[in-house]
Amino acid sequence: MAELRYQSGFLNEFATEAEPGALPIGQNAPQKHPLGLYAEQFSGTPFTMPRGRNRRSWLYRIRPSTVHKPYTPTRIQRLIRGWPCPDAVTSPNQLRWDPEPIPPGAVDFVDGIMTLGGNGDSSVQTGAAIHIYVATRSMHKRFFWNADGEFLLVPQQGRLLIFTELGKIEVGPGEICVLPRGLKYRVELLEHAARGYICENYGPQFRLPDLGPIGANGLANPRDFLTPVAAYENIEEHVEVIAKYGGSLWCSGMEHSPLNVVGWHGNYAPYKYDLAHFNTINTVSFDHPDPSIFTVLTAPSEIHGTANIDFVIFPPRWMVAENTFRPPWFHRNVMNEFMGLIFGQYDAKAEGFLPGGCSLHNCMSGHGPDAETYERATSADLKPVRLENTLAFMFETRFVVQTTKHALESRTLQRNYFECWQGLNRRFTPPGRQ
Ligand SMILES: [Fe+2]
Repeated sequence: MAELRYQSGFLNEFATEAEPGALPIGQNAPQKHPLGLYAEQFSGTPFTMPRGRNRRSWLYRIRPSTVHKPYTPTRIQRLIRGWPCPDAVTSPNQLRWDPEPIPPGAVDFVDGIMTLGGNGDSSVQTGAAIHIYVATRSMHKRFFWNADGEFLLVPQQGRLLIFTELGKIEVGPGEICVLPRGLKYRVELLEHAARGYICENYGPQFRLPDLGPIGANGLANPRDFLTPVAAYENIEEHVEVIAKYGGSLWCSGMEHSPLNVVGWHGNYAPYKYDLAHFNTINTVSFDHPDPSIFTVLTAPSEIHGTANIDFVIFPPRWMVAENTFRPPWFHRNVMNEFMGLIFGQYDAKAEGFLPGGCSLHNCMSGHGPDAETYERATSADLKPVRLENTLAFMFETRFVVQTTKHALESRTLQRNYFECWQGLNRRFTPPGRQ
């Protein structure tokens, strides 16, 4: 396999060329490119976005992106959905699913995306959708891009090689990858099967959370984010290009690979991050902090402190709180919580929440530790304990997550999920009546 190289930093002003001379010096679009490449600006924010939030890259490519046949709606029935979603249901119930089985046949990344839920409206760039992907083969002569939102990929099984317009990213379980709105790419499998989660963020792009009193360092540090160096295909052959546009998939053809960017510079680009680099911060005295302390990336909304969607992880860590109920407490939140498990076991659930599985606790839906976990946590000897071999995550969004028809009818839906709390018996004895 070709050498994989990355540039370090969270969406810095990168500059990279796969051939010497691909990047013009001192200007973006010279009258005539010395290597015969076309200059193309790829904007992720309005031109007038303040400088600190402005995202754009200049691409130097063999053919510009205008060269393609007209797109037509795809006729293949798939399980990917967009928002608004006409047949979605807003359920007050606690919901949990088993892992989606790996299909027996050949399914690539695009065909293997199934939507569990979503909210907002991609056409006004607010809200998000939550998908599962399963794949058993690489995309072949097929490319994908998405105008509706950026994809945050959370692999749970199987390493992927994602060949994007801006270079190659290898990503596997324990890592995440963000693929910006509009970027074309092909997903190849490096193992026999792959499964994972996708957060499709319709809103403002993911960014690192502000740290407030934490200070200048901590949580996810910018230097640990990796963006690929330029890599390209100089291939002239018929290929299929699938676009997600307005919630639907559209298909087009072109007679060359769209991965034909020989050099690029700018700060609108894909990136990966190894969650093992997360600098986890937690209590060293008492009580269980709110999970916002584990925020890796946040996509804000127009209301300060109210995320369109946050990406939060629950990594291996020391638990040292004294005189404290250490698992997550019982709670009802105005925010909406979708959780997944990458590996190991989550500390609030004794069983039923499996790697590859997921749960959804919507606005004001009561949830928390199951009866067995409650029993164990209230009688535990509170020595320092290290939680090992565990990596759960949460997509937390301000908007109620509506579930797709597929998600509510799926065989993977655990219809007995509610039973895990029914053993939480009455324990109250009024004072003086023992
Ligand atoms: Fe919760």
